Amino acid sequence: MAKLIIEGGHALKGQIAVRGAKNAALPILAAAMLVPEPVRIGNCPRLTDVEHMLGLLRALGCRADWGEDGLIIDAGGARTAELPEALAGSIRSSVFLLGPLVGRFGAAEAPYPGGCDIGNRPVDLHLKGLRAMGVKVDEASGRIRCLGRPKGGAEIALEYPSVGATENLIMAACGAEGDTVLVNPAREPEIDDLMAFLNGAGYDMKREGSSRIRIRGGRRGHSTAHAILPDRIEAGTYLVAAAITGGHLVLRGARREHLSALLTVLREAGCRIHCEGTDLDIEGPERPRELRRLVTLPYPGFPTDMQSQVFALCTVARGTSVLEENVFEDRFRHGAELLRMGADCYIRGRSAVIRGVKSLHGATVTAHDLRGGAALALAGLRAEGITVVEQAERIDRGYVAFAATLRQLGAAIRREDE
Ligand code: EPZ
Repeated sequence: MAKLIIEGGHALKGQIAVRGAKNAALPILAAAMLVPEPVRIGNCPRLTDVEHMLGLLRALGCRADWGEDGLIIDAGGARTAELPEALAGSIRSSVFLLGPLVGRFGAAEAPYPGGCDIGNRPVDLHLKGLRAMGVKVDEASGRIRCLGRPKGGAEIALEYPSVGATENLIMAACGAEGDTVLVNPAREPEIDDLMAFLNGAGYDMKREGSSRIRIRGGRRGHSTAHAILPDRIEAGTYLVAAAITGGHLVLRGARREHLSALLTVLREAGCRIHCEGTDLDIEGPERPRELRRLVTLPYPGFPTDMQSQVFALCTVARGTSVLEENVFEDRFRHGAELLRMGADCYIRGRSAVIRGVKSLHGATVTAHDLRGGAALALAGLRAEGITVVEQAERIDRGYVAFAATLRQLGAAIRREDE
């Protein structure tokens, strides 16, 4: 188990380069399974979830090697479509392999992906879409068994713009003979990065307006090289680190068009933000202003993956903030931990009312999920005294060298691995 020990009260200063996006890397690594030739993935973050996904690809017979100029994946030797329980059960993103396995082999078998600390994470929309493509899907005894190649010609309307379901169905549709149309697909930029990777590998898909994606069938993948887009959530997390400590940071290589909703919120909280090309220059206020109402929504709405970090910021705001978490049903567990640090917040269902306090005090708290854990560390950067964040290995799922990066920016933070 790992923990972070943080002494608060240091305003962050300096600059960092934004790394590749976890939530683009995971589906793109899964999509490599479709291509029977080597592909090169650049700017891939070395996160625990990425290493788990590589373990799954190797268990399916792929080669996956880190080199100087990126990750080389060769799925030419992939020989089975059954995901091992031990590995696949450990990360939810193993479900992303159903689509490419069905697309390539016309078969896939995986354990039901576990829920996690932000909700029960069903996959009904993934399976409904596969069935609409003519794939036989059984869900007996806690495993998902898919049989049959996707048929072309399906027009699949998603009841909810699920990111994972959109990605899985795009990958499955690459194996269909005819066209597939997804209606009401997710609009997150990571979807477009997946499509850019697949188009580079010889497939043919595009958005038709904001509510349809067409995937043409009958293509066979070939070698390609692709660089993962910058991680908007990693960037947003460090922006909030500057905001909560009253610091001054420059983020290099960010895509501000992917951060619009967050930048608006941080300006409302009193941050001064200047965008120059792919650089974001942020100065945090001495004490943030409250957010009268913040609502998380699918992209381009305010991202649920930034909710806990902004929640932490609101705990030291001048007034009272109201947050609504509309994407996941249980994504306020960091609230109970922040109460231990002296926050004044009231959580009921999907709403949180946060009365800003002048200062938080250090405490020993627990990271329940990767973004909530990061949020607790951010609160510790502001709190008086020492904060210990336990189960910090959960933060490693979404952030490369989180403590070292904050230390490089002037934070008094160290990590202990037991
Ligand atoms: C992706 O999860 C991300 N993970 C999440 O990031 C992110 O929070 C989420 O999208 C929303 O942006 C990866 O990309 C690896 P969804 P995913 O399907 O695909 C419900 C992080 O912190 N739903 O859009 O699971 C679901 O329960 C992680 O980096 C169904 O009901 O998100 C949830 O309430 C956390 N049935 C909502 O939709 C389904 O079949 C959004 O889920 C699928 C989803």
